[in-house]
Amino acid sequence: MLKNELKVLIYYWSATGNTEKVALSIQQALEREGIKPAIKKIHKAGTEDLYVYDLVFMGSPSYMWAPPEPVREIIAAMMDEHRKRGDIKPCAPKIPGKKAVTFVTYSGPHTGIDEAIPAGKYLGQFFAHLGFEVAAEWYVVGEFHKSLENSTKGLLGDIRGRPNRQDLAEVESNVAKLIKSIR
Ligand SMILES: Cc1cc2nc3c(=O)[nH]c(=O)nc-3n(C[C@H](O)[C@H](O)[C@H](O)COP(=O)(O)O)c2cc1C
Repeated sequence: MLKNELKVLIYYWSATGNTEKVALSIQQALEREGIKPAIKKIHKAGTEDLYVYDLVFMGSPSYMWAPPEPVREIIAAMMDEHRKRGDIKPCAPKIPGKKAVTFVTYSGPHTGIDEAIPAGKYLGQFFAHLGFEVAAEWYVVGEFHKSLENSTKGLLGDIRGRPNRQDLAEVESNVAKLIKSIR
């Protein structure tokens, strides 16, 4: 596949900026690979036709082990649209060439990454129902803003300032590996 042929979307929600940092790192890493992704924030009025894209990165924080309500609402709205169009088929057949990556930021104060995995799986199931292959699930630690206790005394220790440069460098390296594996 030629470099510029891949149509890519980064679609994310972020209340306190952590997930946005990851989204912007994904954007930078894609641009280094010669790909110019669309980047959009999830918002109430904005369902997206994801079939327009070959590769979709969907990102969300974890709130009580799930994507927050605005993310769940937009997924429900998109599922409704796809059901009406007949896109949601028994056995969820994969559509060749359609791939998704989910990314979740989390603080894990009580049980660590187990607080984020259900949110990543939730996003992943959405794509699987649409016929996208979930190529990767990424989990990135993020400071629990406005909660010193959860940012310093939780299972993951002192997570202030995260995702930090190192976390984001890892995301960028994962993007480069993924693109190499797709091309
Ligand atoms: C209302 C609320 C609930 C949260 N619940 C959890 C949780 O259950 N588990 C967890 O690991 N982090 C939880 N967090 C922390 C966020 O997932 C984490 O800080 C995330 O990186 C925030 O992303 P954002 O800055 O993009 O909004 C919660 C944060 C808020 C504000």
